[in-house]
Amino acid sequence: MKNAGAEKVAVLLVENQDVWVRAFIDQRAKVKQILQNERFDNRSVDLPASIINYVLRAQQPLILEDTAKSGFFFSDPYIANRAAASVLCMPVFNKSTCAGVLYLEKAVVLGEWTENMVRVLDVLLGQAIASMENTKLYDALDFEKKQQQEVRKEVDTHKYTIKRMSAELAMTEERERRNIADDLHDSVTQNLALSVLDLKKMAMGVENEQKKRIDILQDRLNTAVHQIRSLTFQLSPKILYDFGLIAALEWLADDISEKHGIEVSIVNKLMLPERLLQLDETTNITLYRAVRELLINVCKHSGGDLAIVALWGEGNLFFISVTDNGKGLMNKELSAKRGAAGFGLASIQERIEALDGRVEIDEQRRQGFSVTINIPLDVNSRRQS
Ligand SMILES: Nc1ncnc2c1ncn2[C@@H]1O[C@H](COP(=O)(O)OP(=O)(O)OP(=O)(O)O)[C@@H](O)[C@H]1O
Ligand SMILES: [Mg+2]
Repeated sequence: MKNAGAEKVAVLLVENQDVWVRAFIDQRAKVKQILQNERFDNRSVDLPASIINYVLRAQQPLILEDTAKSGFFFSDPYIANRAAASVLCMPVFNKSTCAGVLYLEKAVVLGEWTENMVRVLDVLLGQAIASMENTKLYDALDFEKKQQQEVRKEVDTHKYTIKRMSAELAMTEERERRNIADDLHDSVTQNLALSVLDLKKMAMGVENEQKKRIDILQDRLNTAVHQIRSLTFQLSPKILYDFGLIAALEWLADDISEKHGIEVSIVNKLMLPERLLQLDETTNITLYRAVRELLINVCKHSGGDLAIVALWGEGNLFFISVTDNGKGLMNKELSAKRGAAGFGLASIQERIEALDGRVEIDEQRRQGFSVTINIPLDVNSRRQS
């Protein structure tokens, strides 16, 4: 504007088939605006529509040194009524496409718009348009990035909700199991135990063959009581509710050793008594089920004969690991199998993460298989309160 000595300058750009006033400076009226949403046909914009439309169509610069002698354009109300004595209007190109127009006017006739001036303005505007395009592109990219972040955030929220729901579902299932285990204990086991006592009394009054038969019956009933007790425990480990996680894990270690013939040792490296751990019921049962699944995996997959369950604390984290001396797993094998073959490891991960904990499988081991679980203790006590 300074170089051209113009008193009014406007930059109009074509976007989505509409013409928008992007810059507007009127020194006489002391107006300087960068208009973002002003459509050119809007009457509030003080410009000669006929000149601008002509240049947009012709895509050629138009110089009117004296608008009073401009013939056709003189019929434009703006030209007829105002003091625009001399006008230069030229197209603006962006990569050889007409992107809009530059409009300049002076209040004096013979504006002395030279061809050289048109060339300089053409170069300057080309650069300005390119940088505007880059800004727009950057804004679009930025917008897309923000949208992606929003979507990711939403997905994370849904994932978290699903994890919580599945943990809640698992706990409901756990409560049901506990109810069934209690019913089994109170009805079937008690009845069987009473029957064994009755048989014992009956056996006292009889001899020989009959006594033998009663003894056999008694043995069978004792085995049934034992089996139901073991079933009841697998359904819901009463010891866990009555005596806590470590006692339940010790019982589990003995049970698995006895049934599957592997050695299971518990290594308790906790520096504080269990009651001070203050793990809530959900955490206790989740950890117990996780260790059980890992030990069953040792029996099923490892081929080893020793499993070590270690417990320790570090800062506000409580750790449990299960390590065996079996064949272990190659890196690729685990990645390929995870999520495809078994449900066990995936389910442990889901339930532990729902408690804000983490499950780590040591994939770098050369021998054996090792899984470490950690649970934050402060979250645990917050959940309890
Ligand atoms: N202690 C282990 N030693 C060697 N491989 C193991 C061990 N534990 C798990 N794996 C491997 O990891 C896979 C996934 O275990 P995961 O517990 O998820 O499934 P699964 O035991 O095969 O089936 P599910 O638990 O659903 O009955 C197993 O199929 C096995 O190949
Ligand atoms: Mg398994």
